[in-house]
Amino acid sequence: MKIRTVGVIGSGLMGSGIAQVSAQAGHRTMILEVSRELLDKGMQRIEGFLRAGVEKEKLTAETRDRILSLLKGTTDIKDLADCDLILEAITENLQAKRDLFAKLDRLCGPSTIFASNTSSLSITEMMTATSRPSRFLGLHFFNPVPLMKLVEVIRTIVTAEEVEAAALEFVRATGKTPIRTSDRTGFIVNRLLVPYILDSIRALENGVGTIEEIDAGMRLGCGHPMGPFTLLDFVGLDTTYYIAGIMFDEFKEARFAPPPLLKRMVLAGMLGRKTGKGFYDYSQSPPVPLNHLTA
Ligand code: 3HC
Repeated sequence: MKIRTVGVIGSGLMGSGIAQVSAQAGHRTMILEVSRELLDKGMQRIEGFLRAGVEKEKLTAETRDRILSLLKGTTDIKDLADCDLILEAITENLQAKRDLFAKLDRLCGPSTIFASNTSSLSITEMMTATSRPSRFLGLHFFNPVPLMKLVEVIRTIVTAEEVEAAALEFVRATGKTPIRTSDRTGFIVNRLLVPYILDSIRALENGVGTIEEIDAGMRLGCGHPMGPFTLLDFVGLDTTYYIAGIMFDEFKEARFAPPPLLKRMVLAGMLGRKTGKGFYDYSQSPPVPLNHLTA
């Protein structure tokens, strides 16, 4: 089966990026949002990225126009009825995702493949809200979607082989590398990344080093593009706290337990770059590390 038309639900950071790379790969791509306002915001994000790409001479104005011509926004779920693949990137709430997929299941033809971009929820629990478990899988993209080269392709114990094959082909068409994994909380990347990030906070709390020293250690000593605190601020402390909580619930292993400092910062609204403050203060350039956090 070949994927030609794609529906993306949610035009936040992840959804708009996914829609962009889907259109970049030549697929007609429909983006569904709950309001015109959110849709416009998502579209503006895509247009901004493409504009910057043209300015950096990474793509031509013709390519940008072709990508934009393949993208359509809607607030009416019925416009997704004929899609070959529908990819969900709404908030990380299992019930909201189950309700959405149940609705789509009634709307779409039996061959439409459903996928979730969840980073930590169970694909199996989502798929049971539909009558098409064999046509359901996870496609986990990374932030920032247009630049990150990986997608995790997550099969459940009942995902059909041809569905996984079609998803792998879709991912390759976007120019990204797929890795196959099974439906176990955190999949491959977050299973390794989340304990590492949480351990960085514990190291800070234990006085092993300052924020910038720990960041520099991992950046210069291990070649990571961002140190753990810069990455935490980039991903969002609330997102990390939420994922860690789900992983801890699942595995009951201490390495997944969110450290108290992370919880305190989330409660205080220090969520990282998006709120202007996390482990660094972004009101100044370059951002200033907030080393008093552990005092
Ligand atoms: N159009 C086209 N190309 C663009 C572009 C645009 N608008 N903007 C940037 N680029 C290109 C650049 O030209 C550059 O290309 P080059 O390598 O050929 O020169 C490349 O993209 C990198 O861009 P920049 O040089 O501007 O940016 P950096 O080198 O500073 O990299 C980064 C930015 C990719 C974000 C890098 O810092 C990084 O990889 N950080 C780590 C991000 C990460 O780990 N993400 C995963 C988070 S975890 C997650 O998402 C899972 C979830 O479940 C929590």
